[in-house]
Amino acid sequence: MAPSSTTPSVLLNTGAQMPLLGLGTYKLLAPEDVNRAVDAALLAGYRAFDSAAVYQNEADLGRALRELLPKHGLTREDVFIISKLDPKDQGEGAMEGALQSLSQLDLGYIDLYLIHWPGTQGLEPADQRNPVNRAQSWVTLEELHAQGKLKAIGVSNYTPAHMKELMQNCKIPPAVLQDELHPQLCKTELRSVCKEYGVCFQAYSSLGKGALLTDPVVMEVAKNCERTPAQVLLRWALQQGVPVLPKSSNPDRIKDNGRLFDFTLSDSDMDRLSALDCGHKYCRNASQVV
Ligand code: A2P
Repeated sequence: MAPSSTTPSVLLNTGAQMPLLGLGTYKLLAPEDVNRAVDAALLAGYRAFDSAAVYQNEADLGRALRELLPKHGLTREDVFIISKLDPKDQGEGAMEGALQSLSQLDLGYIDLYLIHWPGTQGLEPADQRNPVNRAQSWVTLEELHAQGKLKAIGVSNYTPAHMKELMQNCKIPPAVLQDELHPQLCKTELRSVCKEYGVCFQAYSSLGKGALLTDPVVMEVAKNCERTPAQVLLRWALQQGVPVLPKSSNPDRIKDNGRLFDFTLSDSDMDRLSALDCGHKYCRNASQVV
């Protein structure tokens, strides 16, 4: 069933709807901080939450949702939960790792579960065991998907080459590829590969870890349309059909980042922002992983 969202959603290749706006939770650690952020996000209309085994907050996120959903008049089916396989569990450990995520979150099922990284923790990027391990992880995710425990499965930080390899070998195609995206990193080739394969591209670090908030072009566009730089950066992705996962621990900024559906950037502002593309990554780069 589609989550009853106050924000629009995108149709995945599984037939499920994924909200276009979700809360990123990287570095949200203390239980009280997770509770405060989840409460603010639900109030602001967020209906998706993005966690990962390596964020070490799956249990706190699950607990916060179980406690706060009734307060907001919502049920489990109204929210879309994303988590990711720990790169240390890539390969043989994938079943145990994914079951651990399910049990930590304790929300019955996970709406979208991703292979977090194309490599395996502890292996060199050029190690030939990397492709073997991620293939084994994918088979495991397919199995848990068939059992209904992972409603959709996907990948994160994959390059076009990793995507092509997966598409050639999978039984179930990935529903989502989550990766870094912002005006300085437009990922044109990767997004066209996703489009070709019917995979939804989802953005993280839309704010360039906060660095893009003071970019002069972003600031000028924001001033002209009387919005904040964060809203401009998030709207730039949404207007291209790309779902976003702004990360904040601050209730006021969570609210600010959620006000994205009541304004439009002009074509010329979209073009000015896209012209900032220089391939700059603020996060770790997976292109060296074989
Ligand atoms: P904070 O948690 O204190 O709000 P990204 O999603 O690109 O990785 O960026 C996340 C960073 O940007 C976090 O450090 C977060 O800090 C900060 N941030 C998130 N939203 C805003 C906002 N609206 N204005 C300023 N900083 C923000």
